[in-house]
Amino acid sequence: MKKKSITSIQKSKGVQKLTMITAYDALFARLFDGEVDFILVGDSLNMSFGGKPDTLSATMDQMIYHTQAVCNGAKNTFIICDMPFGTYANMDGAFLNAKRVYQETGADAVKIEGGIEKAHIVKHLTDNSIAVVGHIGLMPQNFRSEGGYKVKGKDEENIQQLINDAQAIEHAGAFMIVIEGVKSEAAKAISQAISIPVIGIGAGVDTDGQVLVWSDMFGFFEEFKPKFVRQYLDGASLVKNSVRKYKADVVNEKFPSKDEIY
Ligand code: KIV
Repeated sequence: MKKKSITSIQKSKGVQKLTMITAYDALFARLFDGEVDFILVGDSLNMSFGGKPDTLSATMDQMIYHTQAVCNGAKNTFIICDMPFGTYANMDGAFLNAKRVYQETGADAVKIEGGIEKAHIVKHLTDNSIAVVGHIGLMPQNFRSEGGYKVKGKDEENIQQLINDAQAIEHAGAFMIVIEGVKSEAAKAISQAISIPVIGIGAGVDTDGQVLVWSDMFGFFEEFKPKFVRQYLDGASLVKNSVRKYKADVVNEKFPSKDEIY
């Protein structure tokens, strides 16, 4: 699969579902390269890689480092870098930080969380030639201000608010939106209300594509297993069993063998 252009991404809406997966390093990015439409360097790395309780303490420097690594591993995939908490609170700061992503990494776009209240930031970035993916619904960067992860789109009023958010972000120039943790009927209504692709996570089947966090879908992140995750591999057991076998081989002097020495 060749790297998609923004025009071809937008043309996919209603034609072909889009796939996105997160990656934080060159090793896994290389495995995913060309297999999915997008690789997202999500600030979720702060939890699965950094062992932190939420995404809030991820820094711009960390996102740049991990995005460089992903870009080194994946040359044929559209790469999106998450802007971490507090790095796009105002227009000038948002541009300076997004400019770093463009100048210091090979990322193709940035992703920012927020609806109507962030539309002016999206517009400022897109007016200055930065490609932006929006992120609405459950926004992990609101974890502390909202007192936890809250599923959205549970009533008509909230569904309308989410539609307004999505439309504001689209009009501000975003070329795609991620919607997270919303009731599937809300996700369907949002996807139908805008003309740019909507990528869902915990948002049902009626979006224009799906995204999953790699460490969740491959069963490496054992601390927390959201309901919406489909686990494609029991990574944690595979790794633990292999480590135990390695230990047993060393203890029993079965490793290294004659073929494994110089
Ligand atoms: O940080 C992340 O991995 C994300 C996904 C959950 C969409 O934003």
